[in-house]
Amino acid sequence: MDDSTLEFTSSLDVDSKLAFYDVMGSLAHVAMLKACGIIPAADADAISDGLRGILAEIKEDRFELDFSLEDIHTNVEFRLTERIGPAGGKLHTGRSRNDQVATDFRMYLRDDALRAADSLDTLMGALVKVAETNGDTVMPGFTHMQHAQPVTLAQHMLAHAFRFSRDADRFLDAFRRMDKCPLGAAALAGTTYPIDRRMTAEALGFKEPTENSMDSVSDRDFVCELAFCAAETAVHLSSLCEELVLWSSQEFGFIEMDDRYTTGSSIMPQKKNPDIAELVRGKTGSVIGALVTMLTMTKGLPLTYNRDLQEDKRPVMDSMATVISCCSIMAKVISTTEFHADRMLEVTSRGQINATDLADYLVTKGVPFREAHGIVGAAVRRSIDTGVNLEDMTLDELREFSDRIDKDVYDVLPVVRCVERRDSYGGTSPASTDVQISQAIEQMMLRDEVVRQETQLISNCWKALSS
Ligand code: ARG
Repeated sequence: MDDSTLEFTSSLDVDSKLAFYDVMGSLAHVAMLKACGIIPAADADAISDGLRGILAEIKEDRFELDFSLEDIHTNVEFRLTERIGPAGGKLHTGRSRNDQVATDFRMYLRDDALRAADSLDTLMGALVKVAETNGDTVMPGFTHMQHAQPVTLAQHMLAHAFRFSRDADRFLDAFRRMDKCPLGAAALAGTTYPIDRRMTAEALGFKEPTENSMDSVSDRDFVCELAFCAAETAVHLSSLCEELVLWSSQEFGFIEMDDRYTTGSSIMPQKKNPDIAELVRGKTGSVIGALVTMLTMTKGLPLTYNRDLQEDKRPVMDSMATVISCCSIMAKVISTTEFHADRMLEVTSRGQINATDLADYLVTKGVPFREAHGIVGAAVRRSIDTGVNLEDMTLDELREFSDRIDKDVYDVLPVVRCVERRDSYGGTSPASTDVQISQAIEQMMLRDEVVRQETQLISNCWKALSS
C-alpha cells in the first residue's frame, strides 16, 4: 500500500473515540468464544487479560495509536498481540470488522442518545422553572411577529419546553430501535462457527441481536435517525435563541442575560452581546449538515458493507456533541436570565392586542362574529388615531360602535383579564399553565427513570466485562 493510500483510507483520527467500546465488544466476543468452546479456554483467558490491560491504557490515556494501522479495531488487535503474543490472533475468530464497527458505533451513539435526552431535560427543567414563577406575567403573543393576543411568559416558556420534551422522547425512541446488537453478523453472511449471538448481545447491554446479518453490517439508519433527532433539536434551539437575541435588544427590553453568559465588545463599552444564543443559533447549520451528509452518503448504496460507510462517524459524533453542549449551556442561560415583567406588561398594554376579546364579547351579546370583526375594526381604527387604548375609552365612546356594548365590557378588555379568561385546555390562563407545568414535570420524571435505568444497565455490563 502506498503511504498516501494509507493516509487517505485511515479512519483512526475519528474512530479512536470508539476505543473503549471496541475493547468492550472484544471482551464480550472472547467470553462467548470461550463459552461456546470455539477457542481454548487458556487462550481466551489470556486475551481477556490482555484486553483489560488495554482498557487500563485507554482509561489512563496511555494507549498509543499507531497511525500505520488503518483504524481503531486493528490498533486494539495489534496491541493485544504485542501484549500476549500469537494467542491474540484468535480474538478475531467468527467476527469481522464490519460487524465490529457497526456494534462499536451503536454502543457509542447509544450513550450519546441517553446524554442528549438528559441534557434536553435539563434545559426543559430550566424553562419550566421560569414558567412556575411567571403564570401571571403578561406579555404579547406574536403571529407574523405582530402583536396578536396577550399571553403569559409561562405559556411562552412552556411552548418551548414541550418542543424539547418531544425532542428528548425522540432520542429515547431512537435508542429503543438501535438497541439490537449486530455482532456475530461477521463480514455479511454470518459464520460457520457455533457462536451465541444472544450471549454477546446481552453482555453488551443490548436487548437482543439484530435479525439479519446483511442488514446488520450495512444498516446506518440508526445513525441517520440520531442525526435527525439532533437536527430537529438544533432547529428548536435556534428558535429559542432567536427570541432571546430579540428580547435582549433595546427595542424589546424583555430580558437581561447574566454577565457570565454574555460578552462585551472590544470597542463599545456599553455593549452586552448575546453571543451564546447567537452561537447556538449558528451551530444549527453544521447539525443539519450532518443529517444531509448521512442521507446523501447512504443513498443508493448496494448491500452490504461499502467503504463509504466509514464516513458516517465524524458528522454525527460532532452533531451529537454539539447538541448536547448547546442544551447544557442554554439551560444555564435560561436559569440566570432576568425577565422584565413590567416592560412586557407595558408593551402588551400598548396598542389593540385585546381586539379579539372585544369581538368575542360582542358575539356573547348575540352579534355574528363576522359583523363583530367589522365593528371592532372601526374601534381599533379610532384607538390608533386617538392613541386611546380600547379599555381606556368611555362606555359612550365604545357604544358609538355598537349599542350591544355594556359596562361589563371592562371585565374583558384589560390584558390581564384577556389572559385569565383563556382557560381552555392548553390555553394561556394561569389555571391552564399550572396543568401544563404538572404535565411537563411528569414527562421529565418518566424520562429520567428510563435514562437512569438504561445508564445503570450499561454501566453494569461494563463492570462485569472489565472485572
Ligand atoms: N474502518 C472501517 C469503518 O469504519 C472499519 C470496517 C472496515 N471494513 C472493511 N471491510 N474494510 O468502516
